[in-house]
Amino acid sequence: MSEKNLRIVLAARPAGWVDPSNFRLEETPVPVPGEGEVLVRVRWLSLDPYMRGRMNEGRSYAARVELGEVMVGGTLGEVVASRHPGFAAGELVVGHLGWQRFGVAPAKALMKVPDPRLPETAWLGAAGMPGVTAWMGFREIGGLVAGQTVVVSSASGAVGSVAGQLAKIAGCRAVGIAGGAAKCDYVTKELGFDACVDYKAGPVHESLKAACPGGIDVYFDNVAGEILEAVLRRVNARARIALCGLISGYNGEDIPIRNVFSLLVNRVRLQGFIVSDRMDLWPEAIRELAGHVGAGRIRYRETITEGLESAPASLVALLKGENFGKRLVRVS
Ligand SMILES: NC(=O)c1ccc[n+]([C@@H]2O[C@H](COP(=O)([O-])OP(=O)(O)OC[C@H]3O[C@@H](n4cnc5c(N)ncnc54)[C@H](OP(=O)(O)O)[C@@H]3O)[C@@H](O)[C@H]2O)c1
Repeated sequence: MSEKNLRIVLAARPAGWVDPSNFRLEETPVPVPGEGEVLVRVRWLSLDPYMRGRMNEGRSYAARVELGEVMVGGTLGEVVASRHPGFAAGELVVGHLGWQRFGVAPAKALMKVPDPRLPETAWLGAAGMPGVTAWMGFREIGGLVAGQTVVVSSASGAVGSVAGQLAKIAGCRAVGIAGGAAKCDYVTKELGFDACVDYKAGPVHESLKAACPGGIDVYFDNVAGEILEAVLRRVNARARIALCGLISGYNGEDIPIRNVFSLLVNRVRLQGFIVSDRMDLWPEAIRELAGHVGAGRIRYRETITEGLESAPASLVALLKGENFGKRLVRVS
């Protein structure tokens, strides 16, 4: 193939905030698939907060990216060449080929796009990993009960927007928490949440009290920190908290929690989860989410930047909270 591969590798580990200088753009030959492997031309790269953790020296729940290695990332692309009977050139596949134009993966690490009627990017968003994360948090920990109040932080984001809409579909009262009036307007007017608290506009506790007069039964937590503390002041007996993300502390600071007393007094169940813990549930989740997206019951917004070269600055923007909806890079 005369074309070259373009890829972005981790050049230096960040200390604190990620900076575009932590990455390096490289041109390499297009990789050649081995027996049982598939060569994919990446069309879309998903940018997600977990990428920050993979840049660190220490080990988290998943392996770090080594210096000089291609940055990890979920992708959607087109099969260019296949050495596996289950895949053919031209098919669209979801995988983890990372920040590069071409990638090779074993066939078992790829999923064919299940339904061509959905927009391609939905498979990296509401009907992909972020959507499955929302679904899993309720399935495994939160439990959705019609009539109960469900609070979701980072409510305009890729995971939070789906979480709130799943709560509405289940007949719950959905209350979002988001930064700024524009995000809150979107959450209530376009996504159909019952209320949204702008945590940047004043004390969260006061606004939560007004938005949740009957208390909080389920909290889908994407941020931890002060917002979790405020929620703990409003939880009902036997509330469930699905701890999905800690975005208020992704730069490495520890995150203290106050109001722990409430956990005991209210018999609250607080549990963390990782979306990959239950891979056996993914097909069911994706089927359900794709059905909701296809029927217009789950809506979403995307922030798209153009070209692989835009990925570093776009990830920085995501990590600094300048994000609205699912963040994607159009690679080719
Ligand atoms: N457990 C799992 O398996 C799993 C899987 C996927 C994602 N996650 C986690 O789920 C959370 C949401 O992910 P996402 O992809 O949907 O991201 P996202 O919500 O689309 O984007 C990040 C958002 O976080 C909010 N935010 C709140 N506090 C912030 C702070 N101190 N600094 C920066 N941003 C802040 C910002 O929205 P506001 O302006 O509204 O604050 C920002 O737009 C993340 O914590 C992620 O790590 C967990």
